[in-house]
Amino acid sequence: MTLLTTWSESGPGTVLRRTSEPAEIAAALAPAGVRYEQWPLRAGVAPDAEPTAVLAAYRPEIDRLTAEEGFVTVDVASLHPSEAPGWAETARAARQKFLAEHTHEDDDEVRFFVAGAGVFYLHTGGEVHAVLCEEGDLLGVPRGTTHWFDMGTRPSFTAIRFFHEEDGWVGTFTGDDIALRFPDFDTLVAGRAERGTA
Ligand SMILES: [Fe+2]
Repeated sequence: MTLLTTWSESGPGTVLRRTSEPAEIAAALAPAGVRYEQWPLRAGVAPDAEPTAVLAAYRPEIDRLTAEEGFVTVDVASLHPSEAPGWAETARAARQKFLAEHTHEDDDEVRFFVAGAGVFYLHTGGEVHAVLCEEGDLLGVPRGTTHWFDMGTRPSFTAIRFFHEEDGWVGTFTGDDIALRFPDFDTLVAGRAERGTA
């Protein structure tokens, strides 16, 4: 289940908010212009399904969101553990790509998790919101929002991505090492398991 953890931007010493309640998560993120919603999962869509099958399964929601937001491109990104040679290096490189704080100046970052998980860290309003997204979660991060993303040391996710621009989605890194000071994906997932909060 989704988990939102909010700290002061000064550090993770004090948890300001911790919730798995969808309405609370949406309300907490709305002031930053962040869209959070849950879509009903489709049975029979395997994590490694072909992109065309994934897009077909969620077509009603994709069409609604595209009409609301004016997206021009929708695709599917996925990465799942594999025994294939070189997978560990592929996973490490994929994780590192957006692990430091950055913005996207030309487009929003909008993801629907069909399977698996990832953590978006939103640095806004003097706070850091870690949104542990899992299957069924849609998160829309407005362009210009400082954030980072951690898929963990053993990435596993299938996500539908939405774009306003064909090639406008690039990262502008802030140079701030703030990401190093907050619990990473693996730590958040392990902590949740320890607390028994599903
Ligand atoms: Fe990003």
